[in-house]
Amino acid sequence: MPVPAPSPDARAVVTGASQGIGEALATELAARGHNLIITARRGEVLTDLAARLTERYGVTVEVRAVDLADPAARAQLCQELAERNISILCNNAGTATFGPIAGLDPAGERFAWVRAYFEAKARQRAAAGFPADAGGLLAK
Ligand SMILES: NC(=O)c1ccc[n+]([C@@H]2O[C@H](COP(=O)([O-])OP(=O)(O)OC[C@H]3O[C@@H](n4cnc5c(N)ncnc54)[C@H](OP(=O)(O)O)[C@@H]3O)[C@@H](O)[C@H]2O)c1
Repeated sequence: MPVPAPSPDARAVVTGASQGIGEALATELAARGHNLIITARRGEVLTDLAARLTERYGVTVEVRAVDLADPAARAQLCQELAERNISILCNNAGTATFGPIAGLDPAGERFAWVRAYFEAKARQRAAAGFPADAGGLLAK
């Protein structure tokens, strides 16, 4: 699926942008000229990244320091995104786990639910016309 072209009003959202794959996705999208909304818990790390991306690529980068495991904070972010022009959603926040389920740390597994929740929300939006009608892209 082609990546939508950048436009001044649209935002590409990357959850879990403070490190790893999310940071790389945010950097690549910025290099392609996309204005961004980046999220993670560590707001100071996001703020540093936003400054670097703006300086290097001239894009607008909005920071949302949100713990997606917190239902209230999550709902607030989802509400904002529902009201914004979102062209791309990189549903990246979370952690990878390996091994038998019985041996996994329950606290760590909450993060899997973070991704699942965002995916469910994104699918709701897809059913309502996003991203297909708007030419948007959902990356999981
Ligand atoms: N690396 C792999 O081999 C691999 C393989 C398969 C799937 N994946 C998936 O790809 C995604 C990224 O992987 P990665 O290796 O880049 O992970 P990572 O380096 O651990 O980064 C995870 C990102 O998610 C954010 N995050 C974690 N918990 C959060 C929470 N409760 N609320 C908000 N943000 C949260 C972290 O930021 P803060 O700590 O600042 O909140 C961080 O930016 C994960 O969903 C993972 O499951 C990775």
